Amino acid sequence: MSREKSVHRRTVLRAAAGTGVLLTLSPGLLLTGCDGGVKAVESETLGLDSDEYDVELNLHAMPDSVPILPGAPSEVWRYRAELLKGPENTVTENPDSYLGPTIRLRRGQTVKIHIHNKLPEDTTVHWHGLHVPSDVDGQPRLPIRPGETMTVGFEVLDRAGLFWYHSHAHGKQGGRVGFQSYAGLAGLLIVEDEEEAGLKLPSGDNELLLVLQDRTFAGNNELVYMGGGRGSMMDRMHGFLGDRVLANGAPPTTRKVATRPYRIRVLNGSNARIYKLAWSDGRPVTVIGADGGLLQEPEDRPYAVLAPAQRLDIWVDLSKSQPGDTLELISDRFRAGMMGGGMMDGMGMMGSNALPLGSRFPLARLEVAESVEASKPLPAQLGVQRQTIPVNRNTRIRSFELSPVMMRGFAMNGRRFDGTNVADDEKVRLGDTEIWEFHNSTPMPHPMHIHGLQFNVVGRRGGNSDSLQQGLVDSGWHDTVLVMPRETVQVAMKFERFDGLYIYHCHNMEHEDAGMMRYFQVQG
Ligand code: C2O
Ligand code: CU
Repeated sequence: MSREKSVHRRTVLRAAAGTGVLLTLSPGLLLTGCDGGVKAVESETLGLDSDEYDVELNLHAMPDSVPILPGAPSEVWRYRAELLKGPENTVTENPDSYLGPTIRLRRGQTVKIHIHNKLPEDTTVHWHGLHVPSDVDGQPRLPIRPGETMTVGFEVLDRAGLFWYHSHAHGKQGGRVGFQSYAGLAGLLIVEDEEEAGLKLPSGDNELLLVLQDRTFAGNNELVYMGGGRGSMMDRMHGFLGDRVLANGAPPTTRKVATRPYRIRVLNGSNARIYKLAWSDGRPVTVIGADGGLLQEPEDRPYAVLAPAQRLDIWVDLSKSQPGDTLELISDRFRAGMMGGGMMDGMGMMGSNALPLGSRFPLARLEVAESVEASKPLPAQLGVQRQTIPVNRNTRIRSFELSPVMMRGFAMNGRRFDGTNVADDEKVRLGDTEIWEFHNSTPMPHPMHIHGLQFNVVGRRGGNSDSLQQGLVDSGWHDTVLVMPRETVQVAMKFERFDGLYIYHCHNMEHEDAGMMRYFQVQG
């Protein structure tokens, strides 16, 4: 069968160092028959049905080979795109990286995307953070089979912000989100709007996009995902941690800058690693935006925490610097529950990773190379057009207990992923405002993500996040919130416009793939 052939030709990832065995993707490991799968028909467009789209593009998910480290290129799976219709700057390819093209959309545009699966297994494409109809959300229930095309259409309803797209495949044998995203299936999606454009924030060369991911490479630059044995058990429990950090799909680099303000937009596209963003000279981190766009006003923090799938928008003014000065964006040291604690040390199971969670390392280096007269101050008021969701004593609170399941990962209210099955307490009503309360009774942090909407963080209590506490940015709009060990976090959301099935899950991809994910239903 041609499918098997293409599998054996491509050896994508290698087993963990030590075993030295090439891990071929045998058909037994492949994803077939996603739960509740519905066959996608090429001729129809899911979601929005319109005669005229403002933007139309082809998006290919395909194997490729790209240089990441010096020496041999690495085998990856990645996205490529072709713009068929729309403004020229809609698609910016990242040819020298495994990252998908950066897709730039404007609020109000209608968009049609033909997704071609050229991989040897099922996949889906999820538009992380976007408010789109259930059928175009890239959920596991609508897999795209190898060789097939799915066409999705939607209107861009979200306010300006940094979003992203990535694989969301999950079949009968478990999730493939961790594997496929790790292999390279992820890219940035930027939404622009009038409100943000009116603020004239640094743009063009003065806007730096930064995708943070960690990877492990074997001797010939093969990407290594989870291996066998004990290491892999730990990977499944903690989530996969690579032994080096990549920025935009390459080792961190030095960027020449001028004496002016910069906007730095950061995505944590890692499977499981949490970053503690800080400046090497100790200056505060000025946060201007989060997952769902600009905050109402800038916030200075000693450091800022970025959990998997989260985005932060940072402003930094270099107008007082001199040519020759350098400044590093780093991830600073921290402790996060058991993962940074002594408990595992006692069992002799820590220390296998060269870059444990909470270590300190550089992310990007800015080198001032030019002196310019351009210092537009940061506006005191930023995104003020979308008002926070009002909640009061009568707002319904829905509680979710995050708990460990012996040897099998984590559960939410005692449940794990069960295809499209939705329990009674996972049904909400269209038009309602609710508070969801995540109570973490595990010793690990969990970045909780809800599909199809942006929420506000109402508050947190308990927990033990001393070394991260001051960097948790809770104002503004979010689609992913970090819930620290023993902590309870409340988020407020409104179910608007679209009914149907959506997903909530932990965005530690190994937790998610092991079943820390459930469907919920918005009933019209
Ligand atoms: Cu970014 Cu359900 O995922
Ligand atoms: Cu988790």
